[in-house]
Amino acid sequence: MYNIAVIPGDGTGPEVIVEALKALDSTGVPYQTIEFGWGGEHYLKTGETLPEGAVDELRDFDAILLGAIGHPDVAPGILEKGILLNARFQLDQYINLRPVKLYPNVETPLRDKGPEDIDFTVVRENTEGIYAGMGGILYEGTPNEVSTQVNQTTYHGAARAIRYAFELTRRRDREKLLHLVFKTNVLTFAGATWWRAFNEIGEEYPDIKRDYMHVDAACMWFVKNPEWFDVLVTDNLFGDIITDLGAMIQGGMGIAAGGNINPEGVSMFEPIGGSAPKYTGQDVINPLAAINAAQMMLSHLGEAEAADRVENAVIKALESGRIESMSAGRMGMGTSEMGDFVAGLI
Ligand code: IPM
Ligand code: MN
Repeated sequence: MYNIAVIPGDGTGPEVIVEALKALDSTGVPYQTIEFGWGGEHYLKTGETLPEGAVDELRDFDAILLGAIGHPDVAPGILEKGILLNARFQLDQYINLRPVKLYPNVETPLRDKGPEDIDFTVVRENTEGIYAGMGGILYEGTPNEVSTQVNQTTYHGAARAIRYAFELTRRRDREKLLHLVFKTNVLTFAGATWWRAFNEIGEEYPDIKRDYMHVDAACMWFVKNPEWFDVLVTDNLFGDIITDLGAMIQGGMGIAAGGNINPEGVSMFEPIGGSAPKYTGQDVINPLAAINAAQMMLSHLGEAEAADRVENAVIKALESGRIESMSAGRMGMGTSEMGDFVAGLI
């Protein structure tokens, strides 16, 4: 019996979580959930993002399923830092895993590219870099205002992300090709740390080919030749940016999911699209991203067979031709109808 912490969150988060749990139910994998009402509404009522002790409570679960965090009445940064980044950092979820996979019948904006061309995974370092929050602001509000935002990089942090990526490349057993993506031509200090870690650890994986790309070039090749990629590893900010590009080429925010992974601790799975407040409560948001997040969670928990059944059901649903688009409001069916459809196929 798995214990799953569920944080439905804001906007359309709760709606897509309902559909993800429907999919989980259909697998027959035994689980129970405890729901936590953290998010924008809770913050506006109480002034609290994650309450005292919340993170310790989360540590006792087998996994966490998150809907979305983000509220139009809360200033940018408060909920992101207070809930999402706080959980990622304190639970030491040092990998942000983002599969970029184009399923059949899903429209990609890339002309002449199909599912055989778009199937790679980005391993984003998830606890360091510019996200660590080092820096500050002086003489604020004056013409002399100075702000620094430090890109904090450690060998340990880069190395553990890189090692995870090598292991994943081996497990995927496809091209056996791992790209390091960075910006070593400008960020020469952090670049040196990533470069050394990549090559030193790479020596332990003689079966895996190593390649390097600057992050700007990677953006270019995601669009031009996505079939070149198998697994990529990169730092927190670059990973944030290129995985939104990745999400677009796999069909958009309606379908893209990610995992915040602590291989030795508790991991958190989420659709990566955000809370989409304007669609709240209209039964128009695409639940496939949340269902895919649940699929990643099953796979992480070691329920490979159930995870495959969920993925195959999503593929079958898409192959049926009944789903007209990945975009909210244009799917040809409602959120709950689509959830029922996929659950039925599981
Ligand atoms: C993501 C999101 C978050 C990030 C935001 C909401 C803090 O964009 O998961 O990619 O930047 O990591
Ligand atoms: Mn992002």
